[in-house]
Amino acid sequence: MTQNIPIAPMLAEGDVEAFLARDLAVVWHPCTQMREHRGELPLIPIRRGRGVWLEGLDGRRYLDAISSWWTNLFGHANPRLAAAIGAQAAELEHVIYAGFAHEPGLRLAERLVALAPRSETHAPLSRVFYGENGSAAIEIALKMSFHAHQNRGDAKRTRFIALENGYHGETLGALAVSDIPLFRRVYAPLLLQPLFAPSPDAFNAEPGETAEACARRAASALAALLEREGEHVAALILEPRVQCAGGMRMHHPAYVGEARRLCDLHGVHLIADEIAVGFGRTGTLFACEQAQVTPDFLCLSKGLTAGSLPLSAVLTNERVFEAFWSEDRTRGFLHSHSYTGNPIACAAANATLDLFAERDVIADNRHLATRMARAAARFVDHPHVADVRQAGMILAFELVEDRATRRAYADHPRRRALAAYRAGLEAGAVLRPLGNVLYWMPPYCIDDEALAVLEHANAAAIEAFVRCA
Ligand SMILES: Cc1ncc(COP(=O)(O)O)c(C=O)c1O
Repeated sequence: MTQNIPIAPMLAEGDVEAFLARDLAVVWHPCTQMREHRGELPLIPIRRGRGVWLEGLDGRRYLDAISSWWTNLFGHANPRLAAAIGAQAAELEHVIYAGFAHEPGLRLAERLVALAPRSETHAPLSRVFYGENGSAAIEIALKMSFHAHQNRGDAKRTRFIALENGYHGETLGALAVSDIPLFRRVYAPLLLQPLFAPSPDAFNAEPGETAEACARRAASALAALLEREGEHVAALILEPRVQCAGGMRMHHPAYVGEARRLCDLHGVHLIADEIAVGFGRTGTLFACEQAQVTPDFLCLSKGLTAGSLPLSAVLTNERVFEAFWSEDRTRGFLHSHSYTGNPIACAAANATLDLFAERDVIADNRHLATRMARAAARFVDHPHVADVRQAGMILAFELVEDRATRRAYADHPRRRALAAYRAGLEAGAVLRPLGNVLYWMPPYCIDDEALAVLEHANAAAIEAFVRCA
Protein backbone atom coordinates (compact mmCIF):
# COMPACT_ATOMS: atom_id res chain seq x y z
CA MET A 1 0.00 0.00 0.00
CA THR A 2 1.59 3.31 -1.06
CA GLN A 3 1.24 6.42 1.00
CA ASN A 4 -1.16 9.00 -0.25
CA ILE A 5 1.45 11.57 -1.37
CA PRO A 6 -0.20 14.70 -2.79
CA ILE A 7 0.88 15.59 -6.30
CA ALA A 8 0.78 19.41 -6.02
CA PRO A 9 0.25 19.98 -9.75
CA MET A 10 2.68 22.03 -11.80
CA LEU A 11 1.47 25.47 -12.67
CA ALA A 12 0.08 26.55 -15.97
CA GLU A 13 2.65 28.76 -17.73
CA GLY A 14 2.12 32.38 -16.80
CA ASP A 15 -0.71 31.82 -14.33
CA VAL A 16 0.55 34.26 -11.74
CA GLU A 17 -2.75 34.58 -9.91
CA ALA A 18 -2.99 30.83 -9.31
CA PHE A 19 0.64 30.73 -8.20
CA LEU A 20 0.20 33.52 -5.68
CA ALA A 21 -2.95 32.03 -4.23
CA ARG A 22 -1.24 28.69 -3.68
CA ASP A 23 2.06 30.14 -2.44
CA LEU A 24 0.50 32.52 0.06
CA ALA A 25 -1.65 29.67 1.39
CA VAL A 26 1.36 27.57 2.48
CA VAL A 27 4.73 29.34 2.29
CA TRP A 28 6.10 31.63 5.00
CA HIS A 29 8.69 33.86 3.32
CA PRO A 30 11.81 35.14 5.10
CA CYS A 31 12.37 38.59 6.54
CA THR A 32 8.82 39.59 5.70
CA GLN A 33 5.65 40.85 7.30
CA MET A 34 3.56 38.34 5.34
CA ARG A 35 0.52 40.59 5.46
CA GLU A 36 2.30 43.01 3.11
CA HIS A 37 2.23 40.34 0.42
CA ARG A 38 -1.55 40.65 0.41
CA GLY A 39 -1.27 44.34 -0.29
CA GLU A 40 1.48 46.76 -1.15
CA LEU A 41 4.29 44.25 -1.55
CA PRO A 42 3.22 41.71 -4.15
CA LEU A 43 5.22 38.49 -4.24
CA ILE A 44 7.06 38.00 -7.54
CA PRO A 45 7.23 34.41 -8.79
CA ILE A 46 10.43 33.86 -10.77
CA ARG A 47 10.69 31.06 -13.29
CA ARG A 48 14.28 31.38 -14.44
CA GLY A 49 17.42 33.45 -14.22
CA ARG A 50 20.01 34.28 -16.86
CA GLY A 51 23.06 36.40 -16.12
CA VAL A 52 21.99 39.50 -14.21
CA TRP A 53 18.35 39.00 -15.20
CA LEU A 54 15.51 37.27 -13.40
CA GLU A 55 12.48 36.32 -15.42
CA GLY A 56 9.07 36.43 -13.76
CA LEU A 57 6.32 33.91 -14.30
CA ASP A 58 4.49 36.69 -16.10
CA GLY A 59 7.39 37.04 -18.56
CA ARG A 60 8.71 40.33 -17.13
CA ARG A 61 12.47 40.72 -16.68
CA TYR A 62 14.06 42.14 -13.54
CA LEU A 63 17.66 43.19 -13.19
CA ASP A 64 19.03 41.56 -10.03
CA ALA A 65 20.83 44.65 -8.76
CA ILE A 66 21.29 43.12 -5.30
CA SER A 67 22.72 39.79 -6.46
CA SER A 68 19.94 37.91 -4.67
CA TRP A 69 20.90 38.89 -1.14
CA TRP A 70 24.50 39.56 -2.17
CA THR A 71 25.23 35.97 -3.10
CA ASN A 72 25.48 35.95 -6.88
CA LEU A 73 28.83 36.68 -8.52
CA PHE A 74 28.77 35.33 -12.08
CA GLY A 75 25.13 35.56 -13.07
CA HIS A 76 22.13 33.32 -12.61
CA ALA A 77 22.05 29.78 -13.99
CA ASN A 78 25.74 29.99 -14.75
CA PRO A 79 26.44 26.99 -16.99
CA ARG A 80 29.83 26.25 -15.42
CA LEU A 81 28.35 26.11 -11.94
CA ALA A 82 25.37 24.11 -13.15
CA ALA A 83 27.66 21.56 -14.80
CA ALA A 84 29.85 21.20 -11.70
CA ILE A 85 26.78 20.80 -9.49
CA GLY A 86 25.23 18.21 -11.81
CA ALA A 87 28.44 16.21 -12.12
CA GLN A 88 28.98 16.11 -8.36
CA ALA A 89 25.34 15.22 -7.68
CA ALA A 90 25.69 12.23 -9.97
CA GLU A 91 28.86 11.07 -8.17
CA LEU A 92 28.31 11.71 -4.45
CA GLU A 93 25.54 14.00 -3.28
CA HIS A 94 26.31 13.87 0.41
CA VAL A 95 28.09 11.92 3.10
CA ILE A 96 28.39 12.50 6.83
CA TYR A 97 31.50 14.70 7.28
CA ALA A 98 32.31 13.42 10.77
CA GLY A 99 34.61 10.48 10.23
CA PHE A 100 34.39 10.73 6.42
CA ALA A 101 36.00 12.94 3.83
CA HIS A 102 35.75 13.70 0.12
CA GLU A 103 37.71 15.34 -2.63
CA PRO A 104 35.58 18.47 -3.19
CA GLY A 105 35.86 19.35 0.51
CA LEU A 106 39.59 18.70 0.59
CA ARG A 107 40.35 20.62 -2.61
CA LEU A 108 38.24 23.56 -1.51
CA ALA A 109 39.95 23.76 1.88
CA GLU A 110 43.39 23.68 0.27
CA ARG A 111 42.43 26.41 -2.16
CA LEU A 112 40.84 28.62 0.50
CA VAL A 113 43.86 28.54 2.79
CA ALA A 114 46.08 29.33 -0.19
CA LEU A 115 43.92 32.35 -1.08
CA ALA A 116 43.23 33.67 2.43
CA PRO A 117 44.62 37.08 3.42
CA ARG A 118 48.18 36.84 4.66
CA SER A 119 50.52 39.13 6.55
CA GLU A 120 54.11 38.84 7.73
CA THR A 121 53.14 39.33 11.34
CA HIS A 122 50.38 36.81 11.91
CA ALA A 123 49.88 33.09 11.73
CA PRO A 124 48.32 32.18 8.38
CA LEU A 125 44.79 30.85 8.16
CA SER A 126 45.48 27.17 7.73
CA ARG A 127 42.37 25.29 8.87
CA VAL A 128 38.86 25.21 7.40
CA PHE A 129 35.63 24.29 9.18
CA TYR A 130 32.49 24.13 7.01
CA GLY A 131 28.98 25.31 7.78
CA GLU A 132 25.84 25.67 5.73
CA ASN A 133 25.14 29.40 5.73
CA GLY A 134 26.52 32.66 6.96
CA SER A 135 24.90 32.60 10.38
CA ALA A 136 26.24 29.10 10.99
CA ALA A 137 29.74 30.39 10.19
CA ILE A 138 29.32 33.13 12.79
CA GLU A 139 28.11 30.66 15.41
CA ILE A 140 31.11 28.47 14.64
CA ALA A 141 33.60 31.34 14.93
CA LEU A 142 32.09 32.60 18.21
CA LYS A 143 31.99 29.14 19.77
CA MET A 144 35.46 28.23 18.52
CA SER A 145 36.98 31.43 19.86
CA PHE A 146 35.37 31.05 23.27
CA HIS A 147 36.22 27.36 23.47
CA ALA A 148 39.85 27.91 22.41
CA HIS A 149 40.31 30.34 25.32
CA GLN A 150 38.58 27.90 27.67
CA ASN A 151 40.81 25.05 26.54
CA ARG A 152 43.82 27.23 27.24
CA GLY A 153 42.60 27.83 30.79
CA ASP A 154 41.54 31.43 30.16
CA ALA A 155 38.06 30.85 31.57
CA LYS A 156 37.20 34.50 32.17
CA ARG A 157 36.99 35.36 28.43
CA THR A 158 33.23 35.03 28.15
CA ARG A 159 32.35 38.23 26.28
CA PHE A 160 32.45 39.37 22.69
CA ILE A 161 32.90 42.84 21.31
CA ALA A 162 30.79 43.75 18.29
CA LEU A 163 30.43 47.01 16.41
CA GLU A 164 27.46 49.31 16.52
CA ASN A 165 25.46 49.06 13.30
CA GLY A 166 27.02 45.68 12.50
CA TYR A 167 25.14 42.66 11.20
CA HIS A 168 26.13 39.01 11.35
CA GLY A 169 22.97 36.97 10.84
CA GLU A 170 19.73 35.86 12.43
CA THR A 171 20.47 32.84 14.60
CA LEU A 172 20.58 33.74 18.28
CA GLY A 173 24.38 33.97 18.59
CA ALA A 174 24.80 35.85 15.33
CA LEU A 175 21.87 38.13 16.16
CA ALA A 176 23.36 38.85 19.59
CA VAL A 177 26.47 40.35 18.00
CA SER A 178 24.38 42.29 15.49
CA ASP A 179 23.12 45.80 16.07
CA ILE A 180 20.15 46.24 13.77
CA PRO A 181 17.25 47.09 16.11
CA LEU A 182 14.62 45.98 13.58
CA PHE A 183 15.89 42.41 13.74
CA ARG A 184 17.27 42.33 17.26
CA ARG A 185 14.92 44.20 19.55
CA VAL A 186 12.20 41.62 20.11
CA TYR A 187 14.67 38.82 20.80
CA ALA A 188 16.90 40.90 23.11
CA PRO A 189 15.92 39.01 26.29
CA LEU A 190 17.22 35.80 24.72
CA LEU A 191 20.57 37.08 23.57
CA LEU A 192 24.17 37.02 24.72
CA GLN A 193 25.19 40.46 25.91
CA PRO A 194 28.15 41.63 23.84
CA LEU A 195 29.99 44.87 24.39
CA PHE A 196 29.34 47.26 21.51
CA ALA A 197 32.08 49.54 20.24
CA PRO A 198 31.36 52.60 18.07
CA SER A 199 31.18 52.02 14.34
CA PRO A 200 34.02 53.46 12.26
CA ASP A 201 31.39 54.41 9.64
CA ALA A 202 32.77 57.28 7.55
CA PHE A 203 29.28 58.73 7.14
CA ASN A 204 29.53 59.70 10.81
CA ALA A 205 32.72 61.68 10.23
CA GLU A 206 32.67 65.08 11.84
CA PRO A 207 32.73 68.11 9.52
CA GLY A 208 36.17 68.29 7.92
CA GLU A 209 37.23 64.92 9.32
CA THR A 210 38.65 62.41 6.82
CA ALA A 211 37.41 58.83 6.65
CA GLU A 212 40.75 57.71 8.03
CA ALA A 213 40.61 60.12 10.98
CA CYS A 214 37.06 58.97 11.65
CA ALA A 215 38.25 55.35 11.64
CA ARG A 216 41.07 56.19 14.03
CA ARG A 217 38.64 57.98 16.34
CA ALA A 218 36.49 54.84 16.48
CA ALA A 219 39.63 52.78 17.07
CA SER A 220 40.48 54.96 20.10
CA ALA A 221 37.08 54.16 21.57
CA LEU A 222 37.74 50.48 20.92
CA ALA A 223 41.11 50.84 22.62
CA ALA A 224 39.45 52.33 25.71
CA LEU A 225 36.86 49.53 25.78
CA LEU A 226 39.55 46.88 25.51
CA GLU A 227 41.57 48.63 28.18
CA ARG A 228 38.59 48.30 30.52
CA GLU A 229 37.19 44.92 29.52
CA GLY A 230 39.87 43.23 27.39
CA GLU A 231 40.69 40.44 29.82
CA HIS A 232 37.06 39.27 29.71
CA VAL A 233 36.80 39.33 25.94
CA ALA A 234 37.16 36.27 23.71
CA ALA A 235 36.84 37.99 20.34
CA LEU A 236 36.04 41.15 18.45
CA ILE A 237 33.78 40.59 15.46
CA LEU A 238 33.49 43.04 12.56
CA GLU A 239 32.58 43.36 8.90
CA PRO A 240 35.72 44.75 7.28
CA ARG A 241 35.26 47.79 4.98
CA VAL A 242 31.44 47.76 4.68
CA GLN A 243 28.67 47.27 7.22
CA CYS A 244 26.29 45.92 4.65
CA ALA A 245 22.92 45.32 6.32
CA GLY A 246 23.61 48.42 8.43
CA GLY A 247 23.03 50.51 5.29
CA MET A 248 26.16 49.84 3.21
CA ARG A 249 28.08 52.08 5.60
CA MET A 250 31.77 52.11 4.67
CA HIS A 251 34.91 52.69 6.69
CA HIS A 252 38.58 53.26 6.05
CA PRO A 253 40.72 50.09 6.20
CA ALA A 254 42.87 51.76 8.89
CA TYR A 255 40.18 50.68 11.36
CA VAL A 256 40.70 47.02 10.56
CA GLY A 257 44.46 47.43 11.00
CA GLU A 258 43.98 49.16 14.33
CA ALA A 259 41.48 46.53 15.46
CA ARG A 260 44.04 43.83 14.67
CA ARG A 261 46.72 45.64 16.67
CA LEU A 262 44.44 46.20 19.65
CA CYS A 263 43.21 42.61 19.66
CA ASP A 264 46.82 41.42 19.77
CA LEU A 265 47.56 43.76 22.64
CA HIS A 266 44.75 42.25 24.72
CA GLY A 267 44.95 38.59 23.67
CA VAL A 268 41.57 38.90 21.92
CA HIS A 269 40.71 37.04 18.71
CA LEU A 270 39.73 39.02 15.63
CA ILE A 271 36.79 37.55 13.70
CA ALA A 272 36.47 39.02 10.21
CA ASP A 273 32.99 38.48 8.82
CA GLU A 274 33.56 38.57 5.05
CA ILE A 275 30.32 36.75 4.32
CA ALA A 276 29.04 39.70 2.29
CA VAL A 277 32.26 41.51 1.35
CA GLY A 278 34.45 38.52 0.44
CA PHE A 279 35.19 37.23 -3.06
CA GLY A 280 35.97 40.47 -4.78
CA ARG A 281 33.08 42.67 -3.64
CA THR A 282 35.15 45.55 -2.35
CA GLY A 283 38.01 45.63 -4.84
CA THR A 284 40.26 42.90 -3.43
CA LEU A 285 39.54 39.21 -3.10
CA PHE A 286 39.06 39.72 0.64
CA ALA A 287 38.47 43.08 2.29
CA CYS A 288 41.06 42.35 5.03
CA GLU A 289 43.75 42.58 2.35
CA GLN A 290 43.18 46.34 2.18
CA ALA A 291 44.48 46.61 5.73
CA GLN A 292 47.12 43.88 5.31
CA VAL A 293 45.38 42.05 8.12
CA THR A 294 45.16 38.34 8.82
CA PRO A 295 42.27 37.74 11.22
CA ASP A 296 42.14 34.78 13.61
CA PHE A 297 38.84 33.74 12.06
CA LEU A 298 37.63 34.48 8.55
CA CYS A 299 33.94 33.75 7.93
CA LEU A 300 32.91 33.15 4.33
CA SER A 301 29.62 32.26 2.64
CA LYS A 302 27.39 33.89 -0.04
CA GLY A 303 29.95 34.38 -2.86
CA LEU A 304 31.74 31.19 -1.81
CA THR A 305 29.50 29.29 -4.22
CA ALA A 306 28.84 32.39 -6.35
CA GLY A 307 25.26 32.30 -5.12
CA SER A 308 24.45 28.80 -6.31
CA LEU A 309 24.23 26.69 -3.14
CA PRO A 310 24.29 27.22 0.62
CA LEU A 311 27.75 26.74 2.10
CA SER A 312 29.97 28.56 4.53
CA ALA A 313 33.51 28.19 5.75
CA VAL A 314 35.36 29.41 8.82
CA LEU A 315 39.10 29.67 8.39
CA THR A 316 41.34 29.80 11.42
CA ASN A 317 44.98 29.38 12.32
CA GLU A 318 47.10 26.62 13.76
CA ARG A 319 47.21 28.21 17.18
CA VAL A 320 43.43 28.01 17.53
CA PHE A 321 43.40 24.51 16.07
CA GLU A 322 46.02 23.32 18.54
CA ALA A 323 43.96 24.54 21.49
CA PHE A 324 41.50 21.74 20.67
CA TRP A 325 44.11 19.01 20.06
CA SER A 326 43.84 16.64 23.01
CA GLU A 327 43.29 13.12 24.19
CA ASP A 328 40.19 14.46 25.90
CA ARG A 329 37.22 14.27 23.51
CA THR A 330 35.39 17.11 25.20
CA ARG A 331 38.22 19.49 24.36
CA GLY A 332 37.48 18.89 20.69
CA PHE A 333 35.14 21.16 18.74
CA LEU A 334 31.97 19.06 18.96
CA HIS A 335 29.96 21.18 16.59
CA SER A 336 28.26 19.95 13.45
CA HIS A 337 25.48 20.48 10.98
CA SER A 338 23.95 17.58 9.07
CA TYR A 339 25.08 19.02 5.76
CA THR A 340 28.53 20.15 6.95
CA GLY A 341 30.90 20.00 4.00
CA ASN A 342 28.21 18.99 1.52
CA PRO A 343 30.09 17.73 -1.57
CA ILE A 344 27.78 19.35 -4.12
CA ALA A 345 28.14 22.74 -2.43
CA CYS A 346 31.93 22.23 -2.21
CA ALA A 347 31.99 21.37 -5.93
CA ALA A 348 30.07 24.59 -6.63
CA ALA A 349 32.63 26.52 -4.58
CA ASN A 350 35.48 24.86 -6.48
CA ALA A 351 33.80 25.81 -9.76
CA THR A 352 33.52 29.38 -8.43
CA LEU A 353 37.26 29.45 -7.75
CA ASP A 354 37.87 28.03 -11.25
CA LEU A 355 35.99 31.04 -12.63
CA PHE A 356 38.22 33.34 -10.57
CA ALA A 357 41.28 31.46 -11.88
CA GLU A 358 40.36 31.86 -15.52
CA ARG A 359 40.38 35.62 -15.74
CA ASP A 360 41.43 38.51 -13.55
CA VAL A 361 38.04 39.08 -11.93
CA ILE A 362 39.42 41.68 -9.53
CA ALA A 363 40.90 43.77 -12.36
CA ASP A 364 37.73 43.38 -14.43
CA ASN A 365 35.69 44.48 -11.41
CA ARG A 366 37.79 47.61 -11.17
CA HIS A 367 36.65 48.58 -14.66
CA LEU A 368 33.09 47.61 -13.84
CA ALA A 369 33.19 49.65 -10.63
CA THR A 370 34.29 52.67 -12.68
CA ARG A 371 31.35 52.18 -15.03
CA MET A 372 29.04 51.89 -12.04
CA ALA A 373 30.45 55.14 -10.65
CA ARG A 374 29.81 56.80 -14.01
CA ALA A 375 26.21 55.60 -13.99
CA ALA A 376 25.80 56.91 -10.45
CA ALA A 377 27.37 60.30 -11.17
CA ARG A 378 24.08 61.99 -12.04
CA PHE A 379 22.80 61.37 -8.48
CA VAL A 380 25.74 62.96 -6.70
CA ASP A 381 24.17 66.42 -6.72
CA HIS A 382 20.62 65.26 -6.23
CA PRO A 383 18.93 67.46 -3.60
CA HIS A 384 17.82 64.38 -1.62
CA VAL A 385 21.04 62.36 -1.86
CA ALA A 386 23.41 63.19 0.99
CA ASP A 387 26.10 60.70 0.10
CA VAL A 388 27.07 58.49 -2.82
CA ARG A 389 29.68 56.01 -1.60
CA GLN A 390 31.38 53.10 -3.22
CA ALA A 391 33.66 50.24 -2.29
CA GLY A 392 34.33 48.33 -5.48
CA MET A 393 31.19 46.51 -6.55
CA ILE A 394 29.07 48.07 -3.77
CA LEU A 395 27.60 51.50 -4.42
CA ALA A 396 25.14 53.20 -2.11
CA PHE A 397 22.98 56.32 -2.00
CA GLU A 398 21.96 57.90 1.30
CA LEU A 399 18.52 59.44 0.83
CA VAL A 400 17.68 62.39 3.06
CA GLU A 401 15.05 65.04 3.46
CA ASP A 402 17.60 67.81 3.80
CA ARG A 403 20.93 67.50 2.05
CA ALA A 404 22.57 70.37 3.94
CA THR A 405 21.96 68.92 7.40
CA ARG A 406 21.79 65.28 6.19
CA ARG A 407 18.50 64.98 8.07
CA ALA A 408 16.70 61.74 7.18
CA TYR A 409 12.95 61.68 6.52
CA ALA A 410 11.24 61.08 9.82
CA ASP A 411 7.80 60.34 8.42
CA HIS A 412 6.69 56.86 7.27
CA PRO A 413 10.11 55.42 6.47
CA ARG A 414 8.66 52.00 5.66
CA ARG A 415 6.20 53.42 3.15
CA ARG A 416 8.98 55.38 1.45
CA ALA A 417 11.22 52.32 1.18
CA LEU A 418 8.33 50.29 -0.22
CA ALA A 419 7.54 53.00 -2.74
CA ALA A 420 11.18 53.06 -3.86
CA TYR A 421 11.25 49.27 -4.14
CA ARG A 422 8.09 49.21 -6.22
CA ALA A 423 9.23 52.02 -8.47
CA GLY A 424 12.52 50.19 -9.07
CA LEU A 425 10.65 47.03 -10.01
CA GLU A 426 8.35 48.95 -12.29
CA ALA A 427 11.45 50.28 -14.05
CA GLY A 428 12.84 46.74 -14.31
CA ALA A 429 15.34 46.43 -11.45
CA VAL A 430 15.35 44.80 -8.03
CA LEU A 431 16.48 47.58 -5.69
CA ARG A 432 15.78 46.64 -2.11
CA PRO A 433 16.40 49.72 0.05
CA LEU A 434 17.93 49.31 3.49
CA GLY A 435 15.83 51.95 5.23
CA ASN A 436 16.79 55.17 3.51
CA VAL A 437 19.75 53.67 1.67
CA LEU A 438 19.44 52.55 -1.93
CA TYR A 439 22.31 50.45 -3.17
CA TRP A 440 23.72 48.59 -6.14
CA MET A 441 25.51 45.31 -5.54
CA PRO A 442 25.11 43.54 -8.87
CA PRO A 443 26.62 40.31 -10.19
CA TYR A 444 30.04 40.79 -11.74
CA CYS A 445 28.66 40.27 -15.26
CA ILE A 446 26.52 43.41 -15.39
CA ASP A 447 26.88 45.09 -18.80
CA ASP A 448 26.22 48.59 -20.07
CA GLU A 449 22.67 47.82 -21.16
CA ALA A 450 21.83 46.57 -17.66
CA LEU A 451 23.64 49.53 -16.08
CA ALA A 452 21.45 51.88 -18.10
CA VAL A 453 18.36 50.09 -16.75
CA LEU A 454 19.79 50.37 -13.26
CA GLU A 455 20.42 54.09 -13.58
CA HIS A 456 16.90 54.66 -14.84
CA ALA A 457 15.38 52.45 -12.10
CA ASN A 458 17.44 54.24 -9.47
CA ALA A 459 16.11 57.60 -10.59
CA ALA A 460 12.56 56.26 -10.41
CA ALA A 461 13.17 54.77 -6.96
CA ILE A 462 14.60 58.01 -5.56
CA GLU A 463 11.72 59.97 -7.02
CA ALA A 464 9.19 57.59 -5.43
CA PHE A 465 11.00 57.70 -2.08
CA VAL A 466 11.01 61.48 -2.03
CA ARG A 467 7.43 61.95 -3.23
CA CYS A 468 5.89 59.35 -0.96
CA ALA A 469 3.51 60.77 1.62
C1 LIG B 1 27.99 40.27 6.96
C2 LIG B 1 27.01 39.16 7.09
N1 LIG B 1 27.23 38.19 7.99
C3 LIG B 1 26.40 37.16 8.14
C4 LIG B 1 25.25 37.05 7.38
C5 LIG B 1 24.32 35.89 7.58
O1 LIG B 1 24.36 35.01 6.51
P1 LIG B 1 23.12 34.06 6.23
O2 LIG B 1 22.00 34.93 5.78
O3 LIG B 1 23.61 33.14 5.15
O4 LIG B 1 22.83 33.35 7.50
C6 LIG B 1 24.97 38.04 6.44
C7 LIG B 1 23.75 37.98 5.64
O5 LIG B 1 23.36 38.89 4.97
C8 LIG B 1 25.86 39.12 6.30
O6 LIG B 1 25.64 40.12 5.44
